[in-house]
Amino acid sequence: MNNRITVIGSSNVDMIMQVPRLPQLGETVTNGRFLQTYGGKGANQAVAAARAGGNVTFVTCLGDDMFSRDIIANLKRDGIETDHVLIKKGVPTGTCLIMFDADGANYLAADPGANFALEVADVDRCTDLIASSAMLVVQMEIANATTQRALEIAAEKKVKTLVNFAPLQTTLLPVSPLMHGLIVNETEAERLTGLPVSTPEQAQRAARSLLNQGPAFVLVTLGSKGAWAVSSEVDERVPAFPAAAVDTTAAGDTFCGALAVALVEGKGLVEAAKFASAAAAIAVTRVGAQPSIPTRKEIDQFIPTGCESKPVVPSLPD
Ligand code: RIB
Repeated sequence: MNNRITVIGSSNVDMIMQVPRLPQLGETVTNGRFLQTYGGKGANQAVAAARAGGNVTFVTCLGDDMFSRDIIANLKRDGIETDHVLIKKGVPTGTCLIMFDADGANYLAADPGANFALEVADVDRCTDLIASSAMLVVQMEIANATTQRALEIAAEKKVKTLVNFAPLQTTLLPVSPLMHGLIVNETEAERLTGLPVSTPEQAQRAARSLLNQGPAFVLVTLGSKGAWAVSSEVDERVPAFPAAAVDTTAAGDTFCGALAVALVEGKGLVEAAKFASAAAAIAVTRVGAQPSIPTRKEIDQFIPTGCESKPVVPSLPD
């Protein structure tokens, strides 16, 4: 059975600061704890899929700097195929500054760097790879034209796509039938539909509205309130697993990567979303993007207990 999951998207160097509370404008907050690790929504989703048991190939663009070789080595350690990882001269690897507080709330600011140097022609050179995949996974952290071309190739080659509409760029790609599965959070669903989305009922309305634009299924995620799943056969809320959140960075990425694996394994939409929710519930208890992403063993052990996941970092002094 073809089980290859190709992820096309961003890679970042994450500069993370855990702070007792997020600063006001112009304020300095002290007693933080710093961690430099690797992230980027594309890379996180590739890592999440690989750790959840997927056969993953990652297409991304890094800068010609001190980080790129380490990022590739890191991806390889997770068993990810990196033959299509590009290194381009004259651009820095993408960077993201992340600050999160004692409640796990965060601020993120990114410099796309090399992520925006991944061009349409680079994706065209991946046509055979895409054609040989069971699923293509994309996000919105590279140039829209590049993402759109990847979706077009997948459609031409009849390969299913999973689209995580994050982050919201200034100009948005149109939601279309090129997007087989669409995953959005509350903010993304609001921007794409113009509807308010904070309750499960509102998420259901937004999900139906997005489904009418062409995807075969839509998942609107609501953090601790779960997710709403709609398709021609499903219209139901998928509850979240309770979790003692420390840092929600990459929870959405973990959800998407794990979801891709579950779908490629043949699980139905609701069962796949539950598997993805379990992975995300574990990720929020740990600090950082890729360091927080669980393995298949951890997810499989967590699901039957359904018990509250515990934080794994001590809190900071006040
Ligand atoms: O979704 C989390 C990711 O967003 C971080 O790893 C950061 O790099 C940004 O891309």
